[in-house]
Amino acid sequence: MSIKSSLFFFFLVPLLFKTSFPAFLAPITKDLAKTKYSLSIYLKTPPQHTNLVLDLGASFTLLDCSNYTSSTYRTIPCGSSLCTSLGSSCTLCSGSSGPGCSNNSCALLLGKSRKLVTGEAGFDSLYLHVTNGRNPGRLGVIPEFMFSCTLLKGLVKGASGLTGFGRSTLSLPAQVSNFSSENLIFTLCLSGSPSAPGVAFFGIDGPYYFHPEIDLSKHFNYTPLIMLNQVGSRTISYTDSSNEYFIGLTSIKVNGKAIEFDRTLLSTTKNGFGGTKLSTMTPYTVLQTTIFNALTEAFVKEELARFNLTVTTPVKPFKVCYEAKDILSTHVGPSVPTIDLVLHDEDVVWRIFGSNSMVRVFREGTDHLWCLGFLDGGLKPRTSIVIGGHQMEDNLLQFDLGSKRLGFTSSVLVHGTMCANFNFTMQDQ
Ligand SMILES: *[C@@H]1O[C@H](CO)[C@@H](O)[C@H](O)[C@H]1NC(C)=O
Ligand SMILES: *[C@@H]1O[C@H](CO)[C@@H](O)[C@H](O)[C@H]1NC(C)=O
Ligand SMILES: *[C@@H]1O[C@H](CO)[C@@H](O)[C@H](O)[C@H]1NC(C)=O
Ligand SMILES: *[C@@H]1O[C@H](CO)[C@@H](O)[C@H](O)[C@H]1NC(C)=O
Ligand SMILES: *[C@@H]1O[C@H](CO)[C@@H](O)[C@H](O)[C@H]1NC(C)=O
Repeated sequence: MSIKSSLFFFFLVPLLFKTSFPAFLAPITKDLAKTKYSLSIYLKTPPQHTNLVLDLGASFTLLDCSNYTSSTYRTIPCGSSLCTSLGSSCTLCSGSSGPGCSNNSCALLLGKSRKLVTGEAGFDSLYLHVTNGRNPGRLGVIPEFMFSCTLLKGLVKGASGLTGFGRSTLSLPAQVSNFSSENLIFTLCLSGSPSAPGVAFFGIDGPYYFHPEIDLSKHFNYTPLIMLNQVGSRTISYTDSSNEYFIGLTSIKVNGKAIEFDRTLLSTTKNGFGGTKLSTMTPYTVLQTTIFNALTEAFVKEELARFNLTVTTPVKPFKVCYEAKDILSTHVGPSVPTIDLVLHDEDVVWRIFGSNSMVRVFREGTDHLWCLGFLDGGLKPRTSIVIGGHQMEDNLLQFDLGSKRLGFTSSVLVHGTMCANFNFTMQDQ
């Protein structure tokens, strides 16, 4: 064998095999004013930078297509087998013809208000950076990415649309994995800082390196993802509780002591009531009233017992606030009682420290306050506990749909890093 051909076998062949299932990433930036998180991707031909609000439990991507130009956009003919498999209807449009307004093309169901709202189903190229879990590499293309192309102007301010990461075959992670990898797996690390983005990984179960050289995939605990059954029709719609991510919370502890409330609120009924889900569209965790009252009472009692600390006048929407000068700072945020979300097993605990439980609030005339970042969801909410964005920030969350489990690290600040510490410098790989 010549040197050249052995080089080929030793270096190129493994490289070719490795790149046949690439993993991808995308930065996620927090918008402070709206407390939403947006994913930064490239769409169309030639590729154009596009920001989409991350909607964890939604089924597909929803794009504002007014002023849409791309040489690769195409629609799905009405009546084709693909259209039938979506359980979908057909569009009729009165405006001028173009992306988002074509007659007799397949439509995706956006929601039901007084009548059905639909949007044209379209395909275009999606580009994401490949990754080895340390840095981003070249842009890779997913040539046939399906989304809903609508003419809803200003769908979301500052973003071109919304992107669903839910348990649907049309979610962004599902389409990326269908194209590139064997496992439907994606991982989120939300950053709380608007100037330093966090990151989403697709199709890689580790390593996930964060400065300084910390592989957070070594710090996962796992709990089953609970799959709700589909209710009603087979038609895929943008919001559908069967596409959301539920986990089996069994109790809540404050400073290690379980709080008292009706535990039946934690199980989900057949038609999707009760239980605990994760949502990136909910800024602060929302609790059914009796759970909220039990949590805040226990928290206030522990603060008083430990530090002789009393609450101050709260600032809306929060109910429990303290003067910041009275609270010590630690590497995991303000020093307050820990809140433990106990999962399927007594030993499997998602621990919430001050950085995730407390919110810094400014009030005129005083120093700032720290407020307990949990809200009252009323007596009869559909879901008893909705874990919101603030509680997910600086936590690594791995959604493994093949193994039907959630990997979670609790606060990564404990490990001496944060979600904003991913190295976005491009590197050949
Ligand atoms: C349409 O898009 C082009 C290219 O992105 C941009 O230059 C132009 O200002 C946009 N027009 C409107 C009305 O948004
Ligand atoms: C779609 O069909 C309707 C009814 O036939 C027609 O009025 C309309 O102009 C058509 N729209 C486009 C974009 O071709
Ligand atoms: C997944 O890939 C297969 C084959 O490439 C394709 O036929 C199918 O439509 C894809 N599914 C989705 C949801 O994109
Ligand atoms: C607790 O705080 C109150 C008022 O804030 C004060 O009067 C009391 O002496 C304090 N108790 C202790 C044990 O420090
Ligand atoms: C980020 O990655 C680049 C490329 O691998 C490397 O040269 C640089 O030192 C890294 N930066 C940090 C802070 O680790």
